[in-house]
Amino acid sequence: MTGIPWFVWAGLALLLVGGLAYWLLVLAEGAYFGPRFVCLLYDWTATKYEGIKEFDPFYERRFVGEPLAATLRDRSNPRVLDVAAGTGRLPRALLPEMPHFDGVMVELDRARRMLLEGRTVLGPDRARTAPVQADALQLPFPDEAFDAVVSLEALEFFPSLESALAEMVRVLAPGGLLMITNRKGGARFYLPGRVRDASEVLETLARLGVPRAKSSVWQVNYDLVVGVKGP
Ligand SMILES: C[S@@+](CC[C@H](N)C(=O)[O-])C[C@H]1O[C@@H](n2cnc3c(N)ncnc32)[C@H](O)[C@@H]1O
Repeated sequence: MTGIPWFVWAGLALLLVGGLAYWLLVLAEGAYFGPRFVCLLYDWTATKYEGIKEFDPFYERRFVGEPLAATLRDRSNPRVLDVAAGTGRLPRALLPEMPHFDGVMVELDRARRMLLEGRTVLGPDRARTAPVQADALQLPFPDEAFDAVVSLEALEFFPSLESALAEMVRVLAPGGLLMITNRKGGARFYLPGRVRDASEVLETLARLGVPRAKSSVWQVNYDLVVGVKGP
């Protein structure tokens, strides 16, 4: 009998399964399996995270630390929450800009090892931050507890845009600053349903009480969305 030999079918099946696994686990970083799975992957790779990201301290201070410091300078004892904080990128960018920072900086992440890695990477500045292991969709804080809420490179992992933003806005004080990143570019193809148009994010924020938020170009793969919570 002529036809396609079995090993060609087996090779094709292997390619298909491998491709699917690569998409779901590497490109989409487990996003379609839920927050528990995403954070398990981050826990497994926590010690490699800094090496993979290769954060440039100059750009971090310029594009993360400075804009936030500018809005916090006039506030005494500012309370800052970093949602899905990872290994402490935000305090590393912000604290050099605010050497006399006398407020509270909470680093929240569901992945315990990411927070632990952050303790190591932060060095002596770790004493100026408070790590909290919790889920971004159920923030363990009362309403209006923070003057600034930041979430960098994480929105695409949250199953519901509306619920995640609602939690961030809930814990933000009136007049407080919200600073989040929104994924864009090629990820649109391999993170369908998770890469949202800027207009969708801005409309959702307006509905939740952050009118006139603005989206601007930030990095190759992300825009920065900044807004102030209304009274
Ligand atoms: C790409 S990293 C970003 C970390 C940090 N914000 C940065 O910019 O370096 C994504 C982070 O989101 C965290 N994460 C994902 N889903 C989460 C959830 N539902 N609740 C809390 N943290 C979450 C992961 O554990 C990981 O640390």
